[in-house]
Amino acid sequence: MDTRTPLSRNTDLLKRREAAVPRGVATATPVFADRAANAEIWDAEGRRYIDFAGGIAVLNTGHRHPKVVEAVEAQLARFSHTAFQVMAYEPYIELAERLNALAPFSGQAKTILFTTGAEAVENAVKIARAATGRNGVIAFSGAFHGRSLMTSALTGKVNPYKKGFGTLPGEVWHLPMPIDHYSVTVADSLRALEMLFRCDIDPGQIAAFIIEPVQGEGGFHAAPKELMIALRALCDTHGIRLISDEVQAGFARTGKMFGIEHLGVEPDLVTMAKSLSGGFPLSGVLGRAELMDTVEPGGLGGTFGGSPIGCAAALAVLDIIAEDKLLERAEILGERMGQLEQLSAAAAQEYRRQANRRRMADSAQDKVDNVVKLRLAKAHKARKAAQNDL
Ligand SMILES: Cc1ncc(COP(=O)(O)O)c(C=O)c1O
Repeated sequence: MDTRTPLSRNTDLLKRREAAVPRGVATATPVFADRAANAEIWDAEGRRYIDFAGGIAVLNTGHRHPKVVEAVEAQLARFSHTAFQVMAYEPYIELAERLNALAPFSGQAKTILFTTGAEAVENAVKIARAATGRNGVIAFSGAFHGRSLMTSALTGKVNPYKKGFGTLPGEVWHLPMPIDHYSVTVADSLRALEMLFRCDIDPGQIAAFIIEPVQGEGGFHAAPKELMIALRALCDTHGIRLISDEVQAGFARTGKMFGIEHLGVEPDLVTMAKSLSGGFPLSGVLGRAELMDTVEPGGLGGTFGGSPIGCAAALAVLDIIAEDKLLERAEILGERMGQLEQLSAAAAQEYRRQANRRRMADSAQDKVDNVVKLRLAKAHKARKAAQNDL
């Protein structure tokens, strides 16, 4: 008879994971997913959680939204893959049309689809380079743009994204991201840019600025409007393209379809992924038509790029965002979170006030105790002296 205590299902899976999967792909939780619905997820032992992570900002429409599931099942019943470069299909074209209509810039737009966020960023850089005939790309400290070699170079954090991976693609520069909390102002960033143009590279060699309208990995910092207006002006002066990396901020997350719509400027290229397709792998670049068409046929694409399953899911996601009024809902929830933040700040202040009062009361008591101790010691000494005299 086997007398060993059976491992729990999560522990068992953790052991198997550690033996079979390299630690380079870190996992935040030691429990394993079994099933999920909307904002809830159940682990392999049947425990239920509220899923605040949403698969890293992928599930703005929730896990397995019934309309997404229905659209994907209908597409699966027809075909799952042809490779758009071999035989194109309508869901890709329809999705491109709908995304073009949502473009956060004026003029004609075109969209190309890929699979991951990093691929979208890589291709936005390729398009900006092809359109300008320049190499340089300027990104920001704390930014996250992906884990491929070029996107690791663009990411503004060394550990763990660049460390140990050797020489990354060159001609990538970083400016400090203006963040109040770290006392970095827009003026600091622009001064750093001025120094960059004075010491290292001519603006005429820069193909693009790339910036997240709201940093994710960097700690949820919104790009200041003032910075964006300055960047746009520099782009217009020097023929630089502005890439808004909307992989995380896009698709209703900020109360607008694209985060940059809050920032008073138009980008030239927009990268999209994550919540675009409600849990299915799909990404894309949406850009000004004249830029998008500068790349020669065959220069862009990928075997799985714009998978029909992902396109079907994304078309359903766009419907859900409109029908369920998710832009408005994000605004309302944002306001409530703001109120919560104010409440927690007030609670923290009250806690500090009471702690100070307790500290002051304690120190007053300490003083009284010390006086009493001193007097007792004196009385004891006097009594001893009197006894000695007898
Ligand atoms: C802003 C941003 N860009 C790019 C990426 C890379 O996307 P992916 O992990 O799909 O390659 C991410 C992923 O978190 C992201 O947040």
